[in-house]
Amino acid sequence: MKKIAPDWLKKAVFYEIYPSSFFDSNGDGIGDLPGIIAKLDYLVDLGVNAVWLNPCFASTFADGGYDISDFRQVAPRYGTNDDLLKLFAEAKKRDIRICLDMVAGHTSTEHAWFKASARPEKNEYSNYYIWNNSWLESTGGLQMISGMAERDGSFMVNYFSVQPALNYGFANPDPAFPWQLPVDHPDVLKVREELKNNMRFWLDLGASGFRCDLAPSLIKKDPGKVATMALWREIREMFDAEYPEAVLIAEWAYAPQALKAGFHCDFLLHCGTPGYTTLFRNEPERDLWRGIDKSAFYEKDGNDYTVKNFHSYFDAAGLGDAEFFFKTYLDHYERTREDGFISIPTGDHDMTRISDFRSEQDLACVFAFILTMPGVPFIYYGDEIGMKNIPGLVSKEGGYTRTQARTPMQWDGSENKGFSTAPAEKLYLPVDKRPGAPDLAEQQGRPDSLWHKVQELLKIRQTLPALQADGGLKLLLADYPLVYLRSKGEETFVIVIQPAAREWRCEVELPFAAAELSPVLAGNINAGIADGKMCFSGGGTQYGIWQIKR
Ligand code: NOJ
Ligand code: CA
Repeated sequence: MKKIAPDWLKKAVFYEIYPSSFFDSNGDGIGDLPGIIAKLDYLVDLGVNAVWLNPCFASTFADGGYDISDFRQVAPRYGTNDDLLKLFAEAKKRDIRICLDMVAGHTSTEHAWFKASARPEKNEYSNYYIWNNSWLESTGGLQMISGMAERDGSFMVNYFSVQPALNYGFANPDPAFPWQLPVDHPDVLKVREELKNNMRFWLDLGASGFRCDLAPSLIKKDPGKVATMALWREIREMFDAEYPEAVLIAEWAYAPQALKAGFHCDFLLHCGTPGYTTLFRNEPERDLWRGIDKSAFYEKDGNDYTVKNFHSYFDAAGLGDAEFFFKTYLDHYERTREDGFISIPTGDHDMTRISDFRSEQDLACVFAFILTMPGVPFIYYGDEIGMKNIPGLVSKEGGYTRTQARTPMQWDGSENKGFSTAPAEKLYLPVDKRPGAPDLAEQQGRPDSLWHKVQELLKIRQTLPALQADGGLKLLLADYPLVYLRSKGEETFVIVIQPAAREWRCEVELPFAAAELSPVLAGNINAGIADGKMCFSGGGTQYGIWQIKR
């Protein structure tokens, strides 16, 4: 049987670090790489063993670093290439893998390739980007910009106007527009080689893999993503041949395509942010913890949206619906379990934070779910203490509404929450000074805090292979509570999660004749076996894990 991933990935729990906001080591107000190195022991203490670092390369920072001007150079504000190498080395000593962010689809307009491509005379970079032949010509329905270069023509952009799309070709070029090059055109194959070489560059220096930005977008006019999938499969072949221990993580948000395309993991992007795709693309109301029910609506206030009438499954009100989620999830899971892993993130730098409308105990239930599901979980920095969105901030570096979830990590209760020694007005973004804003030091000192619960769940996941990425999953009940089995070899565990704040009781069939439910983490839930069934009961907002013993 083919190996679906390097062994380390099966045990991996990732921690996403937005470098500007994690820890500022030199007092300039912006987080940096030495700051991350200084906090590696914290990651060990928490219990994660891999990091996804958002782009830390030279950039115009019009899109938080996703507008790269040099793929092989660390942005000066974060440090030097040597600092990144030191981060790889120090992380390795602690058995932590560092994965970088590969923005494969576009660069900044300040990248040397683009500057050359924008020259009026033909040169070897002319076709590195997608240009039509005259500023007056039709764009063929593509999002193109003109008026920014001496070259006569418009160039295609992927996201913001300063993010020109790299040219990986068109799966179905329109003959009316001969500038739409086919995917096997020698010029666009060169761009593919550049992508591979940029990956090789950092893998050779010690990176453990990449999260690949907008992975499905590389080849244009590619219905069904057939050509884009073939491109990524070629990259996976390179990984298997040259870097078998390194991983490819997709920002694709559709596992049935991403995992068949050779990615080891794909994100289940799970956010109610208006305009952003989700696993349930047109049905954000079905999301488990950011979702909203049918009667919900968005209230717009300036640039911010507030969700009103919020009922997702993990609401203490207990009015949500897990069944719909599992219908899609299990379909994707069954279709892809031989290919790779679905990654459920607690959040990321594009979503609203998970903590809106949630108490610490509600959040603990969400973590209990994410950390006991198959696949490779991702924790967004600060979610382990329930950091909150700070709505109403002026957009920072292209963040717009996303800015609210990118504020500095709250390490302690001091002036800048331990993030930086810079004067408050020099911080990358303001720290959360509202009453009740969580901080790590307070939570570490309080044994029943969210942080301790997350740490406990991580410890359990690390010691029980059945709970890890490739352990089996069987859903028993998708109601209040949620009950499912995880198993590997001879070991089977039952997980019960009750987010609703009410008294409850349930019975579910035993998967095999068993003598005992042996608690791994019982919380306040009563568990037992009677008449061939497992019986659980308790007060609200609880979770537990038991081993089913013969
Ligand atoms: C997805 C990234 O997560 C987001 O932050 C970025 O703005 C876009 N891709 C464009 O690169
Ligand atoms: Ca700094």
